[in-house]
Amino acid sequence: MNFNLGLYSRSVCDNDEPNKHKLKRDTVNGLIAYIVIPVVAGQGRIEMSIESFKNREQRFIISGRDIIYTDTILDIFKSIMFSESDETQNPLLTYDKFNLIPDGSGRSLFRNYCASCHQRHMDFIGPNLQNILSTRSMDWVFKYITDRKSIVFKKKSSKKEQLRCIENPSLSKEYIERIIEYLN
Ligand code: HEC
Repeated sequence: MNFNLGLYSRSVCDNDEPNKHKLKRDTVNGLIAYIVIPVVAGQGRIEMSIESFKNREQRFIISGRDIIYTDTILDIFKSIMFSESDETQNPLLTYDKFNLIPDGSGRSLFRNYCASCHQRHMDFIGPNLQNILSTRSMDWVFKYITDRKSIVFKKKSSKKEQLRCIENPSLSKEYIERIIEYLN
């Protein structure tokens, strides 16, 4: 296994091998973690990314490939602690809790649906979305894309401006989470 610490590492949710991996977002010792395991043990990536480590200044990733003992690795993931960790908040990471990552990685969804107006690290036609979760909740972003009329906007943004971003009710919450996860 190897580990990586920094902001610019690839997102663990970015699935370059469709249908080969499963994903679970969970709390590991009180910190939000994305955990990816292979559908068939020993065939693919097994990874955990802790996103909010050190107030989002760092992303911690531990990963390995083609390791048969999924349960042992999940136990190792669960044991990881930082100074800001809280060991009373721990998941029961069992295999059945994971969902298949279907076609469409965060990167490809972003390219297909958003990249004509948003860029990854800077303002473009639309704003930079890299730190969107520091001002908006995931729920807000989901509603903004799929059901904008359900949001009450502050006066400062006009109706016209609010119409400039695409609205796409067919995007699932999981897809939008994957896009935002890719951008962060
Ligand atoms: C046709 C161009 C276009 C596309 C495609 C587009 N956006 Fe936007 N988006 C914009 C513009 C322009 C704004 C700024 C709107 C405003 O100022 O009210 C915006 C704003 C947003 C905001 C609100 C930011 C905030 O804090 O107010 C979010 C979130 C967002 N876009 C997400 C997305 C996502 C996710 C996708 C892909 C699924 C996407 N957008 C696709 C143009 C686009």
